[in-house]
Amino acid sequence: MKAILINEPGGTDKLIYSELPIPAINDDEVLVQVKAISINPVDVKSRAGKGVFGRLKDELPLILGWDISGIVEQAGSNSGFKKGDEVFGMVNFPGHGKAYAEYVAAPASHLAIKPANITHAEAAAATLAALTAYQAIAHKANVKQGQNVLIHAASGGVGHYAVQIAKHLGAEVTGTSSAKNKDFVVSRGADHHIDYHGYNWAESTNEYDFIFDTIGGDNIDNSLEVAKSGSTLISIPTGLNEAVTEKAKAKGVNGYFFMVSSNGDDMKVLAEWLEKGIIKSHVSQTFDFKDMALAHGHVESGRTVGKIVVTLSI
Ligand SMILES: NC(=O)c1ccc[n+]([C@@H]2O[C@H](COP(=O)([O-])OP(=O)(O)OC[C@H]3O[C@@H](n4cnc5c(N)ncnc54)[C@H](OP(=O)(O)O)[C@@H]3O)[C@@H](O)[C@H]2O)c1
Repeated sequence: MKAILINEPGGTDKLIYSELPIPAINDDEVLVQVKAISINPVDVKSRAGKGVFGRLKDELPLILGWDISGIVEQAGSNSGFKKGDEVFGMVNFPGHGKAYAEYVAAPASHLAIKPANITHAEAAAATLAALTAYQAIAHKANVKQGQNVLIHAASGGVGHYAVQIAKHLGAEVTGTSSAKNKDFVVSRGADHHIDYHGYNWAESTNEYDFIFDTIGGDNIDNSLEVAKSGSTLISIPTGLNEAVTEKAKAKGVNGYFFMVSSNGDDMKVLAEWLEKGIIKSHVSQTFDFKDMALAHGHVESGRTVGKIVVTLSI
């Protein structure tokens, strides 16, 4: 099978196309013939030696990627799936996902059946980014009806699912992005929009029960300016340093870092919401598997609207 390896971290020139044996599966795994792979900032960061590269470097060469949608080619006896099932999920994150390949050995417990009414590209998109939004908003922050919620980078991969999920749970949602993406953010269901360029957070009179920081750095300080006492602030890029953690505590804000993890039960919830149209994936661009470097370049620009997906045609 064709797969993309990295032998060492670096630029997109380190993505090496190789011919590898199709992986063997255990009883609790399935072999997925991959139809679509979604590309995340963590793919790009890990390729460059950051992200989760440090956790995985002893396993070099690495096959990057975690987010797949495809067709079960072979099902382990304890997998609960059968050959021909269409499945999607985030495989083995934050471990070695090995998703940039024509076939992936995936734990059955990380997958759900792909809704029939969405494409493989839309399904692959709704894995790491959608799981992050769901796990943070529903499990960690426990966002409830009527709460005031602020989602940063609401036009991005995580953010566009976060807006839809927070709205579905009954929150009043404000999303940030630049002005050019306002219509997109509002079209996902946001009640209010903030153009972050030049916005004066210190003078804002808004107050939020939950803030989802997808930017990091100064954005955490800015967010604390509008956090209610007793609120929750989850930061997903790198987390809160000691000084910011103290500042949050002094304001009565529960601020912390959170990392998404593979979970088939959560995927089943997302599958149901996708099937019912409660959440929708916005795939702004697809690339062919041979153009993985271009897909990485696009994600690396930081300007992605919704999701970037790579498709395979075997
Ligand atoms: N801890 C975890 O488990 C976890 C999981 C998923 C993602 N992450 C991290 O979370 C971050 C976001 O991921 P993502 O996939 O959503 O990224 P993404 O799709 O690349 O985000 C791109 C979007 O960010 C917006 N943006 C850029 N700077 C902004 C700012 N200062 N304020 C508001 N919006 C801004 C852009 O809109 P404009 O062009 O309008 O600026 C663009 O639409 C990444 O650092 C990623 O690694 C962590």
